Amino acid sequence: MKENIAKLIENCKKEIEQSDASAKLRDVKVKYLGKSGELTAILRGMKDVAPEDRPAIGVFVNEARNLLEAEFDKAEKILSKKELNQRLEKEFIDISLDKFDPAALGGLHPITKIQNEVLDLFINLGFEVLEGPEIETDYYNFQALNIPSDHPARDMQDTFYITQNILLRTHTSPNQVRTMECKKPPIKMLCPGRVYRSDSDASHTPIFHQVEGLVVDEGITLSDLKGTLEYLAKNIFDKKTQVRLRPSYFPFTEPSVEVDLTCSNCGGKGCNVCKGTGWVEILGAGMVHPFVLENCGIDSRKYSAYAFGVGMERMAMIKYGIPDIRLCYENDIRFLKQFKD
Ligand code: PHE
Repeated sequence: MKENIAKLIENCKKEIEQSDASAKLRDVKVKYLGKSGELTAILRGMKDVAPEDRPAIGVFVNEARNLLEAEFDKAEKILSKKELNQRLEKEFIDISLDKFDPAALGGLHPITKIQNEVLDLFINLGFEVLEGPEIETDYYNFQALNIPSDHPARDMQDTFYITQNILLRTHTSPNQVRTMECKKPPIKMLCPGRVYRSDSDASHTPIFHQVEGLVVDEGITLSDLKGTLEYLAKNIFDKKTQVRLRPSYFPFTEPSVEVDLTCSNCGGKGCNVCKGTGWVEILGAGMVHPFVLENCGIDSRKYSAYAFGVGMERMAMIKYGIPDIRLCYENDIRFLKQFKD
């Protein structure tokens, strides 16, 4: 019997050594020391041992059990430490910062980039860049622009009011009025800036950017407007881009137009960017309403003017293929890095 036990110890030790995972080791332990394990089976054979030999064999079996248990404990500790280390290595998260690299300069935000491009193009045509306040009065944002008090653009849902008379400008058009009030024609003005509307979805954010254009002189016509917008479109997108004017309505322009460009993604054939139409709407424009000119002290019989207001986010989304406007404001470095020069 002693020999059987010695053999069992030897085999068991060998299997412990070969176990390379805790789960395997547990199986080996059950095989030898478990309720129906091999050592237990030997103990069951005690009934066949002569009574006088039983105490000695009993001691021997207990020693064997203690010895093997110690071996299992030892192996278990080594394996669980190894497994813990493997897990830690796998789940490692690098929370350290990259080391400072003075050569890794930041880049411009896509909205800033497109705005700079638009401004540069108009500066080349002799436009001057003027800016106005983001907090406006009702007069400049609406009244002076011939927007009657019951016009939907005044709806509380669209406009952020600060008081009854003071609000966040909903467009850059108040600067048409501000400019004409203090300058004499000829005027060629461009006004970039943030504007605010209470609106939020994949193509609207409560804050966005517009560039307003205004040209006042004798004999300005709608074809001057169209030519200028063609110049803008061909230089921002590609040379084949075509411009289409559709009749529209703004209280401060007459006639008013909605301006479409051939889709720069598919070249006008129809794709998901232009919803299959081949055209994308890009801005609102028109001939400045005589009422607005007169409001600013400009003789509407002598002078005419065109104006347009173009959204920078819309331009950037089309030019760079940005599917959701909100990406522009999440400051995700992976998104912003793509626009680095
Ligand atoms: N201000 C108008 C808007 O925000 C756009 C526009 C500007 C229309 C100038 C006509 C002339 O929708």
